[in-house]
Amino acid sequence: MLMLEKLWNVIKNEINSSHSIEILDGIKIKYLGKNGIFNNYIKKIKNFSFEEKKKYSIILNTIKKKTISKIHIKKNELNKLIFEKRIQKEKIDISLPGRYIKNGSIHPINYSISCIQHFFYKLGFESINGFEIEDEYHNFDALNIPKNHPARDNHDTFWLDKNRLLRTQTSTMQIRMMKSEKPPMRFIFPGKVYRNDYDSTHTPMFHQVEGLIVEKNINFSNLKWIIYNFIYNFFNKKIPLRFRPSYFPFTTPSAEVDVMTDSKKWLEILGCGMVHPSVLKNVNINPEIYSACAFGLGVERMTMLRYGISDIRSFFENDFRFIKQFKYI
Ligand code: DAH
Repeated sequence: MLMLEKLWNVIKNEINSSHSIEILDGIKIKYLGKNGIFNNYIKKIKNFSFEEKKKYSIILNTIKKKTISKIHIKKNELNKLIFEKRIQKEKIDISLPGRYIKNGSIHPINYSISCIQHFFYKLGFESINGFEIEDEYHNFDALNIPKNHPARDNHDTFWLDKNRLLRTQTSTMQIRMMKSEKPPMRFIFPGKVYRNDYDSTHTPMFHQVEGLIVEKNINFSNLKWIIYNFIYNFFNKKIPLRFRPSYFPFTTPSAEVDVMTDSKKWLEILGCGMVHPSVLKNVNINPEIYSACAFGLGVERMTMLRYGISDIRSFFENDFRFIKQFKYI
């Protein structure tokens, strides 16, 4: 049993020099396990005399207890070390400056549309987008523009086949909504329209906002009031404007509205009028009971005027130098 005297020193060194939890677990099994060194010693002292048994079991027990507690302490130390290493590895330097996130800006056309929507929402209008692919009936026939009508020529239509086309005007939505809804109704229809035309004032795709009111007593003065207020609101000032008699097949009477530009020239920005009784009949609304007024405006035209943009094509060329000038938020 000379060995027993040295045992604690051996165990202590082994525990001290273990540098991982796995090694420590190995030591635990080696000494404290079922077939471990302590149990072997216990087996050995079985045959000793009573006095010796007593003496050695006390020594063995003390060493065993010390081993258990030493392993426990070492394990805590190792866990702490592992934790510290992990913290070190996953450390975030909160004093570093943040990464720069590029914010986009709203396209001026979208911004104009949302300004227009906000104005009309306040007057109880609902906004609906509608289809860009339409048929001849909704784009022309139902709007009182039959085949061979000269008004069709102005539209430079993109035909998809004999019957289908890219809508040339948002007025198509007048027909769709008057057919599907029961009056009274107030709508605006913003969206893209297409015409085969390209120069500094025309692009093959552009945006219109159509407006429609169907009520029992709606009249031209109501329409004028709305348009005056809308235009003053859009340009944020009492910009000079005039109503000029005009012709549209689907409205009677019809007018065009011009505003005075900074260079003191009149520029047309929208068309409007009282919806033609034939159009109301086409959608099964009785013109003896209901009247309707409508207007249609070009969003690009109004946006160009508001910001002094001279070439309509700049809206769609995706030149960041242009787009970046419009930061609204
Ligand atoms: N749809 C017409 C165009 O594209 C604009 C227009 C004129 C719409 C008069 C209307 C209106 O609703 O009443 O030229």
